[in-house]
Amino acid sequence: MGNGDTATPVIVTGGASGIGKACARALAQAGRPVAVWDLDAGAANSVAKDIATEFGVATAGVAVDVRDLAAMAAATAASRSELGAFGGMLHAAGVDGVGPLEQLTPELWAAVMDVNLRALPFLVQQLLPDLKSNAGSAIVGIASINATLGNAGNPTYSASKSGLLGLIRALADDLAQHDIRINAISPGQIDTPMLQKSMSEIEGLRQSFEKRIFLGRLGHPEEIASAARFLLSDEASYITGQELIVDGGNVPSQR
Ligand SMILES: NC(=O)c1ccc[n+]([C@@H]2O[C@H](COP(=O)([O-])OP(=O)(O)OC[C@H]3O[C@@H](n4cnc5c(N)ncnc54)[C@H](O)[C@@H]3O)[C@@H](O)[C@H]2O)c1
Repeated sequence: MGNGDTATPVIVTGGASGIGKACARALAQAGRPVAVWDLDAGAANSVAKDIATEFGVATAGVAVDVRDLAAMAAATAASRSELGAFGGMLHAAGVDGVGPLEQLTPELWAAVMDVNLRALPFLVQQLLPDLKSNAGSAIVGIASINATLGNAGNPTYSASKSGLLGLIRALADDLAQHDIRINAISPGQIDTPMLQKSMSEIEGLRQSFEKRIFLGRLGHPEEIASAARFLLSDEASYITGQELIVDGGNVPSQR
């Protein structure tokens, strides 16, 4: 352990765009076969094909809605038959669920929770035989600085991401008996289609983000991917149950 040579296949949910896509690429670059899961079938297939060509690893593009537990089980079986037993999983599928308290509905609450939070424990449950069978298996959940920083605009999103941190600590305690590690990454503001949409709708949003961040800029998806690749590798063999904040100096800022 600890030599960074884990090369087992990894499932990346939300792998067709933004942070998930960058993570799928980074893992493939490290020689790991990748199953790219996404709601967007065409994009999942094209990302899987592109990274297979670029890095010479086996990949699978899989259309799956992670709100649907039966669909996830079928996707797990299909992905396993293409790539073999999984030794890693990264949950990046997510929705921003913007809507302040007065606009909150049970439907919006479920739509955000089911993708951002509920999918993770059930996918881990489905993958347990795989993860147990591979030494050095590891899981990463993409949380957010919104798990810590209050924002009136998206309470549901914040709750889903704080919930993810609590869930990951509990699962770290459980999974340790099988030598499986699980950690969270909390990105700050990262320049992806999700954030680009909000920035195009709200004037001055990008500038207000940049003002607060010590490094003075948004993050690139690749800067989350390198942290994810590390946490999923044997280099991180003694790290579990943690939140790694990758935010250019946002949570610590008083600017
Ligand atoms: N961009 C940021 O600033 C930022 C900051 C903190 C955390 N995050 C988190 O990072 C993760 C990735 O976000 P992103 O910015 O790359 O967004 P993105 O919109 O570019 O990518 C999200 C991907 O998830 C997929 N997805 C959504 N619902 C799904 C479902 N039900 N089943 C399967 N796939 C589904 C989408 O199709 C999309 O490809 C999310 O969990 C998000 O909350 C993003």
